This record gives sequence, C-alpha cells and structure tokens, in this order.
Amino acid sequence: MEKGRQLYEGKAKKVYATDDPALYIVSYKDDATAFNGEKKGTIVGKGVVNNTMSNIIFALIGEAGVPTHFVRQLSDSDTLVKAVTIFPLEVIIRNVSAGSFSKRYGVAEGIPFAKPTLEYSLKNDDLGDPLINDDHVMALGLASEDELATVRKYAHRVNEIMSRFFLDKGLRLIDFKIEFGRLPDGTIILADEVSPDTCRLWDIKTNEKMDKDRFRRDLGKVEETYQEVLARVKGE
Ligand code: TMP
Ligand code: ASP
Repeated sequence: MEKGRQLYEGKAKKVYATDDPALYIVSYKDDATAFNGEKKGTIVGKGVVNNTMSNIIFALIGEAGVPTHFVRQLSDSDTLVKAVTIFPLEVIIRNVSAGSFSKRYGVAEGIPFAKPTLEYSLKNDDLGDPLINDDHVMALGLASEDELATVRKYAHRVNEIMSRFFLDKGLRLIDFKIEFGRLPDGTIILADEVSPDTCRLWDIKTNEKMDKDRFRRDLGKVEETYQEVLARVKGE
C-alpha cells in the first residue's frame, strides 16, 4: 500500500490518504512537544517505538473485543489504519493521581484511586484542550448520548486490558489518554495511539517514570526509557 496525499500533520504523526478511501497510512515522527507545543524537541527512535508499541497493544485490545483502527504495520514507523472521523476529545483514564490532576486539585502524585476516573478534554490547541463533561460534549454536538456511553464503556475496558498487560511487564499504568473515531457506518472504534507519549507508566519496583514525563520534566534518559518500554512490551 502506497502513501498518497498528506491529509494532516499533527505534533507526533502525519496521516496520508491511500488509493482506498477507507484506509489511511499513519506515519510516526520523532518530534516531541509538551505544554501545548511550548516545549519542543526530538526523541530519537520515538516514532518506531510508538508505532510498534501502539500496534502490539491495539492488536491485544482488538482481540479483547474493542474495535480499533489498526489494520497492519507497513514499516518501522508507518501503519495502515481504517479511515475514521475522530471525535475531538481526549479521553483520559486515571488510576493514580498524577500530572494535571495533581496540579489542578492540589494533591500529591501517586495516590491510588478507589476506582478508575474518566475525564475528557476538548481537543483544541488554541483553547489549551480544556476539560469538558458529558453534558458539554452533547451541548456542542460532538457526540450523542449513546456514543458517549460506548466511548466510556470502551475506555474502561481498555484500562482493564492495558493495566493487566503492563503489570505483567513490571509497569504500573498510572493514567493514559486515548481517542476514538467514527466509521462511515457509525461504528465507534479506538484510534490514534497508545505509547509512552500517551500513558504514564511507573516501574513497579523503583517507581521510576517510564514515559514522556522524562521529556516534559527534563528527567534524562529519555531515549533509553522509550527503548526499554518497547523491549518490555515485546517481552524481550
Ligand atoms: P495530564 O495529567 O497532563 O492531564 O495527562 C494525562 C495523561 O494523558 C497522561 O498519561 C499523558 C496523556 N496526555 C496526552 O496523551 N496528550 C496530551 O496532550 C496531554 C496533556 C496528556
Ligand atoms: N502533546 C502535548 C503537546 O504538545 C502535550 C503533552 O503530551 O504533554 O502539547
């Protein structure tokens, strides 16, 4: 399958058309940004890590009954996916306090929650991706009540699948962000990516941060950490 016209360039990926209108090619970049693009850098090898890891996890999630956009990996950094219209929502599940949750509510990082906590941000860089609730999503006409119910159900299921998977690799899934899209027939599927860019993963023994917080917070060993996470995900 050949790359056609570039349809979109985001901060970490490019999306290309193919000669099949139902399929796109996603191409992962080494570019890294944080704080809504204010901090910029390169994480050498990130594109390959995120592409490979995302595909392994999407395959797992698909087998567990949550439909995803994944079709097949084409190369180290390119993947064939189903063409979807993405809901402009970042769906975030938190198992343990960290990041913007800790900052917003003034609590320490590392406090486990009694049950997984779901929140959404509106994907809008100009507005700084504001938090948004179910009623706001419906008021803005972004998704119907039924669609939101499906998104919530799938997100919690993804959390269960990934928490178990990462635990087996010696990693605690603290929180993560996923995105969903709609196929032309209305089917809702998981899209975008699952990677150290979009998850917080802490080493089960040392509590070391094994994710993009190493870049966001200048913690060092950024490239090495991405490689280590991929090696664990691959079971190496
Ligand atoms: P937060 O604590 O900064 O809100 O991040 C929650 C989770 O979402 C964390 O695992 C990182 C991920 N995330 C993204 O994937 N993209 C983003 O733009 C942001 C801000 C967070
Ligand atoms: N990807 C986001 C950005 O640049 C933020 C983040 O992941 O922290 O803005």
